[in-house]
Amino acid sequence: MSAHFCSLKVKAIENTTDDSVVVSFDMPSEHVDSFQFTQGQYLTLKANIEGEDVQRSYSLCSSPLDQEWKVAIKKVPFGKFSTYANDTLTPGSVLDVMPPNGKFFVDVNPDMKRNYIAFAAGSGITPILSIIKTHLESEPKSSFKLFYTNKNSSSIMLKEELEGLKNRFMDRFEIFYFLTKEKRNIELFNGRLTEDKLEIIFKTIADLKEIDHHFICGPESMIFTIRDFLLEKGVGKNTLHFELFTSSSDAKKVFIEESKEQFEGKTSHITVIEGGKTLEFEIPQASENILDAALNNSADLPFACKGGVCCTCKAKLLDGEVNQLVNYGLEEDELEAGYILTCQAIPISDKIVVDYDA
Ligand code: FES
Repeated sequence: MSAHFCSLKVKAIENTTDDSVVVSFDMPSEHVDSFQFTQGQYLTLKANIEGEDVQRSYSLCSSPLDQEWKVAIKKVPFGKFSTYANDTLTPGSVLDVMPPNGKFFVDVNPDMKRNYIAFAAGSGITPILSIIKTHLESEPKSSFKLFYTNKNSSSIMLKEELEGLKNRFMDRFEIFYFLTKEKRNIELFNGRLTEDKLEIIFKTIADLKEIDHHFICGPESMIFTIRDFLLEKGVGKNTLHFELFTSSSDAKKVFIEESKEQFEGKTSHITVIEGGKTLEFEIPQASENILDAALNNSADLPFACKGGVCCTCKAKLLDGEVNQLVNYGLEEDELEAGYILTCQAIPISDKIVVDYDA
C-alpha cells in the first residue's frame, strides 16, 4: 500500500438510484484528524480489481459537520471502479483511501448573509450537496438556489437528501430540476441548460447582482456554457467555482485505458461519407473517436463542441460497432435509428461505415 493511502472499512452501501450507490466509511480514531475535510472535497479510493490496482477520485457528498465520510458513485460504461463499487462492494469490505483533497469550496462565515447558486448535472451533485448542506447549516442568513439536470426523474441522485434539506430550510433553499429525457410541464425545465435558459433563469428566478458565489459541477460542456455566460454578463471570476466531473475527455481516457487489452492489435477500417465524397483510413480499435481520427486524415467534417452536446458531428452508423462515450444531445429515436455523435464514438469493430449525409 502506498504511504498516502489508509485502509478503511466500508460501513454501509445504499442505493441512491438504480445505477449509483452511496458508500460510507468507518473512521478509526487514528485517522480522524487526517481525514477532516472541507465541503466540496473528494476522496481517492483504490482497490485491487481482478488483479489490477484501480484508483479513482469521488467527491464527498456528506458535510464535514456530520463527521461522516460518504461518497456517491455512479456506474459508468466500462468504468471498472464504479462497476465494482456498485456490484461487488459490501459493508465490511476494505478499501485504500487517500485523505480528502480539492479546492471546490469557499470558506464558511456564520456572520455573512450570502446568496449562493449551484448548477449540477448527474453525479456532479455530490460535492454540491456537501457544499449546500454546510453553508445552510453554518450560515443562518444565507440562501441557496440549485439547478440540477438529469435524464429523468428516476436518475436523480441523492434526491431524498436534497428534498430533506429543502424541507428543513424551506425559506432559504430552492431546487429546480431539469430533465433531458422526460417531459416536464414547464418548458424551461425540459432539456439541458442552454444560454437561452440561463437568460430566463437570471431574469425570472435569480438576480445576478444578488449572487455572491456560483458553483458548477458536471460535464465540461455544461461548465463551459455556464461559465462563459456568466463571464459575459460581467460576473467576477473569483465568484465562479467549478469542478469538472464527468468530462468526455475523462470518459475517453477511462475507456481507452480499460479496454486496452481487449482490443490490442486490432484495427478498424473506417469509411466516412460526407458531401457525397468517401474517405477511407485505418486506426487501432478503441484508440480515438471517429471525428478526430477523420480530421487527422484530412477530412473536412462538421463539429462544434466536441463534448457530446451540440450534435453538429451527428452521422449515421451504417456498419460496425462503436462505444459512444457520452451523449447529451441525441434522442432515443435517433439512437435507435443508428445515429451517433462521431466526436464521442470510439470504433470497436473491424469495419466502420459512417454517413454524415444521411
Ligand atoms: S461536436 Fe458537438 S456533439 Fe460532437
